[in-house]
Amino acid sequence: MEIIRFEHVTKTYPLYHHFFSGLKNFIFNIPSAMKQLRSSGFTALKDLSFTIQEGESVAFIGRNGAGKSTLLGLIAGVLKPTSGTIRVSKRVSPLLELGGGFHPELSGLENIQLNGVLMGLSRKQVAAKIDEIVAFSELGEFIHEPIRSYSSGMNARLGFSVIAHLEPELLLIDEVLAVGDASFQKKCFAKIKEFKARGVSVVLVSHNSSDIEMVCNRVIWIENHKILMDGPTAEVLPHYIKAMT
Ligand SMILES: Nc1ncnc2c1ncn2[C@@H]1O[C@H](COP(=O)(O)OP(=O)(O)OP(=O)(O)O)[C@@H](O)[C@H]1O
Ligand SMILES: [Mg+2]
Repeated sequence: MEIIRFEHVTKTYPLYHHFFSGLKNFIFNIPSAMKQLRSSGFTALKDLSFTIQEGESVAFIGRNGAGKSTLLGLIAGVLKPTSGTIRVSKRVSPLLELGGGFHPELSGLENIQLNGVLMGLSRKQVAAKIDEIVAFSELGEFIHEPIRSYSSGMNARLGFSVIAHLEPELLLIDEVLAVGDASFQKKCFAKIKEFKARGVSVVLVSHNSSDIEMVCNRVIWIENHKILMDGPTAEVLPHYIKAMT
């Protein structure tokens, strides 16, 4: 069964946004960015079509600014395509990305409660899971501190712990695994394996090839706002690594 379908999807960001929020990517891609500037908007993804089937786990790879996070945002529904159609027929986890989804002034515990409710759980259901989530995060007393005092690894711990206990049907992970320490990464991968055994699909963005090899059986390489290569991990990844070095 097909769980994700992109048909001729184009995503263009308005220019004023581009200047203020995409500076890092702008600098990384000056030639193409300058060309785009002369036209009216910045095209992050151009006429993308692909499908993902149930049981597949897919990694999106590509250089900085290629459009990977944009793609995950489109799948999660937090971004809307400029043109084309997107169909996602599974309950998607909240997009797990660095610094995403949490309120900086609230404590870890309050953020868990907030996220659970936003995910459609009742307060009772959240209360039933909260001890498990806190234990998984191993944040100890920090769970009562505001998120703004967390390190990026601690943030990732909280994010992954919440998502791991919400029973998603499709897991979207953007670069979060890389900031966890070795022991937490091990726990994350065990959890991901468990999810996959239950038929949950994983869509991952990562610059770490061993993470990709461990989690994904298919890799889609994005370059110049388009799909450059799409196939089994063992075929696509070596080409990509070669092109990057
Ligand atoms: N909110 C935004 N407003 C304007 N432009 C944006 C916005 N978000 C992303 N872009 C632009 O879209 C392009 C794709 O960005 P995206 O964040 O999807 O790249 P990425 O592949 O995730 O990169 P990285 O590997 O650095 O995370 C970039 O050129 C970026 O400048
Ligand atoms: Mg990104």
